[in-house]
Amino acid sequence: MVKKLWGGRFTKEADPLVEKFSRSIQYDHKLAKYDIFGSIAHVQVLKKAGYLKPSEAGRLTRALGAIFAAVNRGEFKYDHKAEDIHTDIQNKLQGVVGDLALKLHTARSRNDQVVFAVKSYCKTELAKLIARIDVLGDALSKLAIDNKKLVLPGFTHMQHAQPVYAKDYLNAYVHMLTRDAGRLAAISDSMKLTMGAGALAGTPVAFGAYDLAMNGVKIGAPANSLDSVSDRDFVIEILSALSIAGMHLSRLAEDFVIWSTKEFDFIEIDEAFCTGSSLMPQKKNADSLELIRGRTGQLYGNLVNVLTVMKGLPLTYNRDMQCDKEPLFSSIETVLTELEILTGLVRTLKFNKTKIEEHLEDESLYATDLVYYLVGKSVPFKTAHTIVGKLIRYSIENDLEIKSMAPAELEKFSSKFDREEILKLFNPRVSVEAKRSIKRK
Ligand code: ARG
Repeated sequence: MVKKLWGGRFTKEADPLVEKFSRSIQYDHKLAKYDIFGSIAHVQVLKKAGYLKPSEAGRLTRALGAIFAAVNRGEFKYDHKAEDIHTDIQNKLQGVVGDLALKLHTARSRNDQVVFAVKSYCKTELAKLIARIDVLGDALSKLAIDNKKLVLPGFTHMQHAQPVYAKDYLNAYVHMLTRDAGRLAAISDSMKLTMGAGALAGTPVAFGAYDLAMNGVKIGAPANSLDSVSDRDFVIEILSALSIAGMHLSRLAEDFVIWSTKEFDFIEIDEAFCTGSSLMPQKKNADSLELIRGRTGQLYGNLVNVLTVMKGLPLTYNRDMQCDKEPLFSSIETVLTELEILTGLVRTLKFNKTKIEEHLEDESLYATDLVYYLVGKSVPFKTAHTIVGKLIRYSIENDLEIKSMAPAELEKFSSKFDREEILKLFNPRVSVEAKRSIKRK
C-alpha cells in the first residue's frame, strides 16, 4: 500500500478503480523538480515561523536536495501507485528522514502546492518556448537575408496579386513569432509564485514569512487565498497563446507545402523533413509540415478542454482542476517540437530561383503597376483601374502579351500609354521597389 496524505479519516480502502481513476502521477511526475523546489521554500517558511528548528530545516532541505539531484540526473523513479507527485515526494522524503518528514506538511495543502509547482514548471517551459521561438525567428531572418534580392509572386485569395520580396514574406512570420514570444513573456511575468493559501483559507503562518527569494525567484503570500488555489487563468492563457503560435506555425507550414508542389516549385525541402510513399515511388511528401498543420487541432482542443473544465466550477479547489495538466503539457511539448522541426527545415530550405522567375513572367502581377503609371499621368485612379482591367481582358481574350502589343494597340486603351515606359514596369524588382510605404532597412 502506498501511503496517502489523507488516510486518517478513512476506515476503508478506496475502490481500486477509483484509486486508479484519481491518480495523476503518470503525468504530473513531470512536476517533480518544481514540487521539491516548492518544498524547500516551504521549509524556509516553516523555519522562519518557528515550526521547524534550524537543524530540522537543515535535514529536510538536504534530503529534498538529494531527491532534486536524483531528478536532475534522471535517476528519480516515481512510484506509479502514488496518487500524485506531491504524495510520492512526501513518501520518498519520509523514507530518508523518517517522521521528521511529517512536519513538512504543516500549514500547507496540495491545493496550494500544485499551483506553485505548475506555475514554476510553466515559467521554465515558457522560457524554453521563447528561446526556441527566437531561434526559429533567427533562422527565418537568415533565410530572408540570404535571399534579400529574391522576389516572389504575392497572393491574395490564393490568386496572383503583386510581386513581393521573399524577405518580406519570411519576415512576416518573424513578426508573428515576435508577438508569440511577447505574449508568452507577458504571461510568465504575470504568474506570481505564491504560498500560504493553505487548502483555501490561508494558514497560521504570518504572511511576511512567505517573502522569500530562492535562486533569484521571488515568492510571496497570495493576495487572496481562495482565488489562488482555484485560479487556472494562467493555464488557459498559455494554452491560448500556444494556440495562436500553433496557428502561425501551421500557416508557415501551409505556405511551405504549397511552395513545394510541382505546380509552384518555389522551394526545395530537405529530404530529412519528408517521407515517401509505400505505393508511389516518386513521392517526396512534406509530412512534417502537414503534421504541424494537423496538430493545431490538438492545440485548440487543449484550450477548449481546460476552458470547459473550469466553466461553472464553484470556488475553490475542485478535483476537476487536476485535468488541466495533460492538455497543458501536451500543448507545451507539441509547440516546442514544432519549433525545433521548423528551425531545421528553414535552415536547409532552398529557393528555386529559375522556377520563381518563370512565375514572375505572369503579366497580371504588374496590372496594379500599370494603374499607378496612369495615375502618375493624372488619370483618376478609378478610371485607370477600368482602363487596365479592359487591357488585361483584351490580352487574355486574344491570347496576347501586353508587352508584345504595338504602341497603337495600347493607345486604344489610353493615350497616356507609352510603350517604352510600360515595358519597364513588367519587372519584379521595379514593382517591389515602387512600393515606398514600407520602410526598408
Ligand atoms: N493532483 C492534484 C491536482 O493536480 C493535487 C491536489 C489534490 N488536492 C485534493 N484536495 N485532493 O490537482
